Amino acid sequence: MAAGSVTALANVSLRINDDEYVAIVGPSGCGKSTLLHVLGCVDAPTAGAVFFEGRDVSWLADAERSRIRLRRIGFVFQRFFLLPMLTASENVELPQAEAGIPKMVRRARTAELLEYVGLAQRADHRPSQLSGGEMQRVAIARALANGPRLLLADEPTGELDQATGDQIVRLLDRVNADGTAVVVVTHDPAVAARASRVLPMRDGRFEPDGPPR
Ligand SMILES: Nc1ncnc2c1ncn2[C@@H]1O[C@H](COP(=O)(O)OP(=O)(O)O)[C@@H](O)[C@H]1O
Ligand SMILES: [Mg+2]
Repeated sequence: MAAGSVTALANVSLRINDDEYVAIVGPSGCGKSTLLHVLGCVDAPTAGAVFFEGRDVSWLADAERSRIRLRRIGFVFQRFFLLPMLTASENVELPQAEAGIPKMVRRARTAELLEYVGLAQRADHRPSQLSGGEMQRVAIARALANGPRLLLADEPTGELDQATGDQIVRLLDRVNADGTAVVVVTHDPAVAARASRVLPMRDGRFEPDGPPR
């Protein structure tokens, strides 16, 4: 190992099935976000392989990885990362525009998605006009914009109070029930409790009692 390099993940083996809802839990720095980035084709592993929809994506060029992320994977973050100058609608439209969806189609889909997350009436509001929970619901609508197979959420309730976090948890439940695989990184036992499988991590590995299936 080169001086200064960090082994963030080691000997991690994991299979996520189509309809699964998986929670990854563990102390700060144990590699949860890194694992999510590897699963989400953001980072490539330095060793080992990642398969997505049956295809080895470990060695793909950046452009191809971006294409898979745009069309097949949705990301939700603790700090929402909405674009502040864009309205809720425009934030949800953006990934559809990037995917080349025609304007009329993406308008209609955006309206459906904002309805789905219960924010139809806030379509024209900017993030600064929304509460944390509302911003996260817009972020979830954006993550679903191109109909992903997999939704990855990194501490999605970390900035929210309990009641607001519960709304997000129910929304993630519904996304999973409606047919999208969900992998959530969380410190929140209420979030982890909803998952069909909980994987405790420590020091870049799964705990012995949280093996892959
Ligand atoms: N860009 C980076 N460069 C160097 N080390 C990093 C980087 N990102 C994360 N790490 C290190 O990798 C380990 C795992 O980090 P991370 O996946 O962010 O943990 P978690 O999300 O569980 O808090 C930590 O030791 C962290 O310091
Ligand atoms: Mg993290």
